[in-house]
Amino acid sequence: MKEIKIESTLYIYDSIDETPKNAQELMEKAAEARLKAYAPYSKFNVGVALLLDNGEVIIGSNQENASYPSGLCAERTAIYYKGAKYPTAKILRMAIIAGSLKNPTTTPIPPCGACRQAIAEYEVNQEAPIEIYFMGVSGKVVKSDSLANLLPLVFDKSVL
Ligand code: THU
Repeated sequence: MKEIKIESTLYIYDSIDETPKNAQELMEKAAEARLKAYAPYSKFNVGVALLLDNGEVIIGSNQENASYPSGLCAERTAIYYKGAKYPTAKILRMAIIAGSLKNPTTTPIPPCGACRQAIAEYEVNQEAPIEIYFMGVSGKVVKSDSLANLLPLVFDKSVL
């Protein structure tokens, strides 16, 4: 038996003002996108902005449904929109802002497991890391240099 340790490096900023200017700009787009979330059931609104290597910014927000499982997270809404609109463009950076309208969240909210898997598909295919920033409605911001830090032991096309 052999023990292995898996390490991930994340960077924590005390506030959005501490993050690089290009991250702040993308966070602002994510905040605007969050205003367009359709989350009447959970009242948990999430906004995402993606910066592409063609200079375009793609946004997404969570879209819920009366049939609850038919809804989709903001991250996948954005990433699939990117795939549909600019299939060959690479994603350079992703900004995520999430929080409840009932109880505004000040702790950074990472993407859910299903969204990490969806983002991994794009990161693996583009053969270049996606920088990810995430936060609550205010407060600290977490940065990861790659989706891989958030999803070690990824399941991807290499095993198929
Ligand atoms: N949600 C996201 O948009 N992204 C996540 O990573 C986690 C959850 C949405 C789904 C649902 O509309 C609401 O937040 C509550 O789960």
